[in-house]
This record gives sequence, structure tokens and C-alpha cells, in this order.
Amino acid sequence: MDTFVIEGGRRLTGRVRINGSKNAALPLLAAALLTDQPVKLREVPNLADIRNMLRLLGELGCQRTDAPDDGSFGDGTITQRVTDESLSHARYEVVRTMRASICTLGPMLARRGFARVSLPGGCAIGERPVDLHLRGLAALGAQITLTGGDIIAKVPPGGLIGTTVFLGGPFGSTVLGTANIMCAATLAKGTTIIESAACEPEVVDLANLLNKMGARVSGQGSPRVVIEGVSELGGADHRVIPDRIEAGTYMMASAVTNGDIVLENCPVDSLLAAMHCLDTIGVHVEACNAGSANIPTRSAHRGCEDPMRCCVRVTSDRILRPVEVTTQPHPGFPTDLQAQLMTVLALADGNSVITEKIFPDRFLHVAELSRMGAKVIRHGPTCVISGVRKLVGAPVMASDLRASAGLVLAGLAAEGRTIINRVYHLDRGYERMEDRLRALGASIQRVDEKEVVGVEALSA
Ligand code: EPZ
Repeated sequence: MDTFVIEGGRRLTGRVRINGSKNAALPLLAAALLTDQPVKLREVPNLADIRNMLRLLGELGCQRTDAPDDGSFGDGTITQRVTDESLSHARYEVVRTMRASICTLGPMLARRGFARVSLPGGCAIGERPVDLHLRGLAALGAQITLTGGDIIAKVPPGGLIGTTVFLGGPFGSTVLGTANIMCAATLAKGTTIIESAACEPEVVDLANLLNKMGARVSGQGSPRVVIEGVSELGGADHRVIPDRIEAGTYMMASAVTNGDIVLENCPVDSLLAAMHCLDTIGVHVEACNAGSANIPTRSAHRGCEDPMRCCVRVTSDRILRPVEVTTQPHPGFPTDLQAQLMTVLALADGNSVITEKIFPDRFLHVAELSRMGAKVIRHGPTCVISGVRKLVGAPVMASDLRASAGLVLAGLAAEGRTIINRVYHLDRGYERMEDRLRALGASIQRVDEKEVVGVEALSA
């Protein structure tokens, strides 16, 4: 398995371009199951989760038609087309490695009338139930049974019927649940209203693709989404929105190294809560064309032609200020930036509080950060972080995608050498992170764990 070897203390400077969004691309790829026409996506990131989704869709009869002859991923343009609708079983062996496979359920059911998808089970950040997904599909008339760890869903002879469904749960709405119900409702008879729909930008991007395919979705981005069913959907050509979590991660990488970096293709309009929080801490995000004036983050995209594809410059005060943050559904502070923020606050001048309202157990990074000298006390879903003057490099263990990102930031800031084991977690959501950080001035190497002896990497 690969590890990262990081020599901390280097200031990040330079430019980095934000990739297409993993969490938008996954349901967008699955939407190809809704039609027998080709669906082309542009700016799909080259990530482990994306490659796994392409493999799963291949098993479901949806083939990529423009794969490069040399078997490489290509430039991020991916065209898929369904050639066999008899293959409708998303197997446990695939689903257990990537929970997002659940987003094949709605499209497959709506188009084929049948779907068998393994229950995803839990993961490192907590239980990952799908009861809200099943509530929504059952409300549309699907016959749902659970057998042998699989969800078996069937459409009755009369087809799916539009209805009003409440998708709220104890932690708010569900992103992939909204995606599933929205997809299924596009081919239902009549109108469907999703009350308490997820408002995430990735859901908006999916709705925009569905409309390009001939669907009639409105209200996306608000808690009430309305879908008027149509008889069939066609192909489309769609550009994936930039990845707001990747962008927020690089903003925080600049903050922990007192850096000065420019983010290109940055979806500022989907990061306002995170940028407000960073502004409070003393991290400044300004539009590139704003000149040297330090403008408030709320207008960071003034002058950007597309507020979802901005060029921004990220700098920070030398002394970072503490803050109190609660993660919430969009447009609140995103849970996917919580671990990264904790690393920033570990170096702030004072006591901060983070409360995790989406995944209350999403704190596997706390023990690892503590190994590097962070002072964090957890009480259930709340952590109190007492800032320290410096972190010290150490061998640490990645546990899930965003916790890994938080540890990379800690390694960049720490004094000395940090070894991050199991970076395959990171490869699920960050493309070539070590190369891009090195281009910004970081000292970071990817080495096989066998080459790392204790804290000394033979070939750092
Ligand atoms: C999406 O997961 C993202 N993944 C997650 O990002 C993200 O953390 C999450 O949304 C919340 O924003 C993708 O888009 C591929 P949810 P999703 O259903 O849709 C509970 C990353 O790091 N819930 O919105 O699976 C659930 O337990 C990943 O990129 C139910 O109770 O999340 C959680 O507490 C991690 N019943 C909350 O709702 C359900 O049926 C939000 O979950 C579904 C969810």
C-alpha cells in the first residue's frame, strides 16, 4: 500500500486548477441508465471512485464508448451508452467498496422496472442507512423487499406514479436519496414533489443534466423539487461542476502554511459558508481580478463571469483566529470539510468548537491529529480544539477520504516528517494530490509502505 512522506513547514505558493466534482460526477454517470442514448460528461475527475463507478455501470450494461485505446482514463470526457438492460444487479463486492453505488438504484428502477442493489452497509464515518431512499421509491409505487443484504425493487404493472414525498430524516435531507428519487420521478406518470430535498450543488448539477436529457425538473437547489414525469429521456452533453470540497481543501492548505495560492475553476458560489468561516479565522479569499485590495469573501466572485468557475487568490493572517462551527446540510458548513477545518483550528490562537451534525461519529482524524500534538477534546458530536503553536510530524493512519485530507494538511504544517499510511483513502477523492501539492512547493512523496522503516523513509 502507498504512503505519503511529507516534510512540513514549506509555504505553498502558485496556482492549482480545481477538478470536476467527484460527488457530482457519480450520480451524473449513473443517470446514463435512464436512457438508451449516449450521455457525454466533460471534466470528470480521474479518481478511484469514478473508475469503480464506471466498472459497476459496465456490469449493469452501460458501457463507456470513448475509452482511449491504451486503457488510460483520458482527458475527463466520458461518453456512456446502455447496450444491455438485462443486467440489473449491483453486487455487494462492488457496492461495499463505494457506497455511492446506491445512486444506480433510482435510474435503473425507473428505466428497467427492476433493480437489485446491495445494501451499502456502514463505513468509517458512521452508519449509512438508506431508509429515506426506500421511503421515496416506495412512495412512487415501487415494491421494495430486502433479501440477502440486497434491495430488490420492482415497478408494478401500472408503472411509477408521481406523488409528494417528504425526504427529511434525523440529520436533515439525503443527497444521494434526493438523486435517486429525482431520477426515478423523471419517468413516473404525473408530477412528483420532493419536500425536504437536498440543496447541495451536486443535486442541482444532476437536475440540470436530467433536464438536458428531456426531463422536467424545477426547484433544484431549494428544499422543494418538482419533477413532471415524461415518457422517455434522451442523450446529453454536460460539463461537471467543479469540486467545492477539493477547492475548500486547497484553501485550507494555503491557510495552514501561511501560503499564497491561486485557485482556478473554483466554485466560489457553492462555498460561501466555508469562506465565511475562513474569513472569520483570518483566511482571505479574493477574486483574482480584484487587484491587490483585500475584498470581503462575500463578494469574492464579484467580476467572475461564472460564480461557479472563479479564479481566486487565498492568503491568510500569520495568526489564525479561533471559531465555532456546526456542520449542516447545504448551504451550511459542509461536513466534508470538517476534518480539514479541524487541522486549521489546531493551529489557531485560542479555543475553537466544531459540532458535527451530519455524521456525529466523523472524528477518526482526532486521534491521529493528537499524535501530531493537536489538542482536541471530544464530547459526542462536539470537539473543542485548543490551538497550539506548532504540530510535530509523526506516522499517522488515514481512515477515510476527508480525514486523510485533514492529515495531509497537518503534515504540510507540521515541523519535521509525517508519514501517512493507507493513502488509498485519499485517492478516492483527490486526483494526484501529491503532484499538485509538490507543484505548490510542498515536500511530499508517494512511496510504497515497504520502503518506509519507522519514521524514516528510505527514499523520501
Ligand atoms: C453524500 O453522501 C456525499 N457523497 C458525502 O460525501 C457527504 O458527506 C454527504 O452527502 C453529506 O453531505 C456523495 O455525494 C457520493 P446523505 P450521502 O444521504 O448522500 C443520513 C465524501 O467525503 N441518512 O446526505 O450518502 C445519513 O446517515 C462523501 O465525499 C439517513 O438517515 O449522504 C447522514 O447522517 C462522504 N437515511 C445524513 O442523513 C438515509 O436514507 C446525510 O446523508 C440517507 C441518509
